[in-house]
Amino acid sequence: MARPEIIKLRDMRERALLGGGKEGIEAQRSKGKLTARERIELLVDVGSFMEFDMFAQHRATEFGMDKRVALGDGVVTGFSKVDGRPAVVIAQDFTFLGGSLGEIHAAKIVKAIQYALSIGSPIIFINDSGGARIQEGVDSLKGYGDIFYWNVQASGVIPQIAIIAGPCAGGAVYSPALMDFIIMVRKSSFMFITGPRVVKAAIGEEIDEMRLGGADVHAYKSGMAHLIAEDDREAILLTRKLLSYLPGNNMEDPPRVEGGDDPERRDYELDSIVPEDPNKPYDMYGVVERVVDVDTFFELHRFWARNAIVGFARLNGYVVGIVANQPAYLAGVLDIDASDKIARFVRFCDSFNVPVITFVDVPGYLPGSMQEHGGIIRHGAKVLYAYSEAVVPKLTVIVRKAYGGAYIAMGSKHLGGDFSVAWPTAEIAVMGPEGAAEIIWRRELDKVRTPEEREELLQKFVKEYRDRIANPYVAASRGYVDVVVEPNETRPTLIKALDYLLTKREVKVRAPPKKHGNMPV
Ligand code: HXC
Repeated sequence: MARPEIIKLRDMRERALLGGGKEGIEAQRSKGKLTARERIELLVDVGSFMEFDMFAQHRATEFGMDKRVALGDGVVTGFSKVDGRPAVVIAQDFTFLGGSLGEIHAAKIVKAIQYALSIGSPIIFINDSGGARIQEGVDSLKGYGDIFYWNVQASGVIPQIAIIAGPCAGGAVYSPALMDFIIMVRKSSFMFITGPRVVKAAIGEEIDEMRLGGADVHAYKSGMAHLIAEDDREAILLTRKLLSYLPGNNMEDPPRVEGGDDPERRDYELDSIVPEDPNKPYDMYGVVERVVDVDTFFELHRFWARNAIVGFARLNGYVVGIVANQPAYLAGVLDIDASDKIARFVRFCDSFNVPVITFVDVPGYLPGSMQEHGGIIRHGAKVLYAYSEAVVPKLTVIVRKAYGGAYIAMGSKHLGGDFSVAWPTAEIAVMGPEGAAEIIWRRELDKVRTPEEREELLQKFVKEYRDRIANPYVAASRGYVDVVVEPNETRPTLIKALDYLLTKREVKVRAPPKKHGNMPV
C-alpha cells in the first residue's frame, strides 16, 4: 500500500502541472499558443529542466482570491540546459488569471534571476501575461519594481532574453525593455504601455492591439523587437540560435566552433562588389556574408533602421559582432535610429566579450529638421560613446565612403579602434568629393560661362580631390589605416588580426576609476 504522503505529493505535482486548469489550457491552445510548460520543453535539453517553486501560492484573500489558487501562481521557473549549457528559464502561465503578476509570482521571477546571476547563466523570460494582478494591488507593483531592479543588476553580467508570446502591457513591458534581446511572436503577442481603450479615452485615437504594439510594429517601427517569429516554436528556435552566440556570463568568452570555414578562403567576387560609380548603391550583406564563416551571420533588428546592419557571426569559429552601414538603404547614412541600433549592439558586445567588426560605407549623418529636432546630436553621440568605451577587440573595414563625423564614429582608430583595414575603393575625407570641390574651387567654378563647362570643370576638380585626398593612402600614411588590402584578402586579414587581438582585454585597463560614465541616452 502506498504511503499517504507520497500520494499527496503526486497529487500536488499533478495539480501544479495543470496550472490554471484544463479549460485554461484548451483556451491557450485555441489561440495557437503553447502552454508555459510546452514552451520550456521545446526550449531546453531533454531531461535537463529542474523546476523550483512549483508549489508557490499567492497570499491574497480579497476579491475571492482565497478561492482562486493555482500551484505555481501562474509562472513556471527553473534551471535547465540549452545545447549542454546552463540557462535559467521563466515562463508565465496565462492559464491562471491570465498570467497576471502578483507578489509571489514576482518573487519567483526575482529568485530565478538571482539564481542565474549566482551561477552565471543566461536568463530566458517567456512573457505571456495580463500585467499587474489587479486583485493584489500594490503588492503587484512592488513585484514589478523588484523585477526591474534585478534585471538591472543582471545587465552586463548575464545575457537576458525576453520572448513575448502573448500580452505584455503597461509597466510589464519594462522588464523586457531592460533585457538584452526581445523576440516577439507575430501571431499572438503585443507590447504597449497603454492599451487601445485608454488610447481612445485619452486622445481619441482608434487603434487595435496589433497595430498599436504587435510584433511587426516593434520590428519595423519602434525597434523594440530584435527578432520576430511566426509562432511559439519559431521563437524558441531563434532563442536557441541566439544563445549559441552568447557566453554564459561576462567572465566567459562566447563559445567557439572550429572547422566551419577555411580561414584562408578568399572571395574574389568581393573585388567587383563596389560599383565603379561611387554614388551607386550595392548590398552590404554581400560583403559581410562573403567575409565571415559561411552561413554564420545572424542578423538582429533586420527590419528596423535598415541603413545600418548589426548581428552576430563567426570568424574562424570565433563569435564576432558585425556592425555595418548599408549603402542599399538611404545610402547607408547614419540617422537617429541607426545610431541607437549600433550603440546598443556595440555595448552588448563589449559587455560580453564579443569582438566588434565594423564595415564602413557611410556618407555622413542624415540632414534635416526632423533629425535635428529629434535629437540626432544626442543619438549620434551614443555611437561615439559606445565605441570609445568598448575594450573588446575592434576591427574596422573601410569599404568605400567614410566621411566626416560618421568616419570617426564608425569604429575609427581615433575612438580606440584596434585594427583598421581599407579597401583601395575607400574614400576617407571630411566630405564627399563633389561637395568638397564645390567649396575649394568655388571661385574657379563661378568663372565659367555655361553649365556644361561648369560640370566638366567640376568633374576635373572632383577627380583631383579624389586623387589627392579622398583615398585610403592619406589615412594609411598617418597610421589611421593599418593596412590597405584587396577586397578578396579581407577575410584572411581580419582572421589574422583577430588572432593577435584576442588577448587584448587582459592588458587593456585604461579607464580611471568611476562608478559609471554618463552616456547620452
Ligand atoms: C487579474 C487578469 C488580469 C490582470 C487578465 N486577467 N488580466 N486577472 N489581473 N491584470 C484574467 C481575466 O480576468 C481572465 O480571468 C483571465 O485572466 C484571462 O483573461 P481574458 O481577458 O479572458 O483573456 P484575453 O481575452 O486573451 O485577454 C487578455 C488581456 C485582457 C488582453 C490581457 O485580459 C486584459 O486586458 N487584461 C487586463 C490588462 C490590464 O489592464 N492589466 C493591468 C496593466 S497595468 P478568468 O476569471 O476569466 O479566468 C500594469 C501596471 C504595471 O500592468 C505597473 C508596473 C510598474
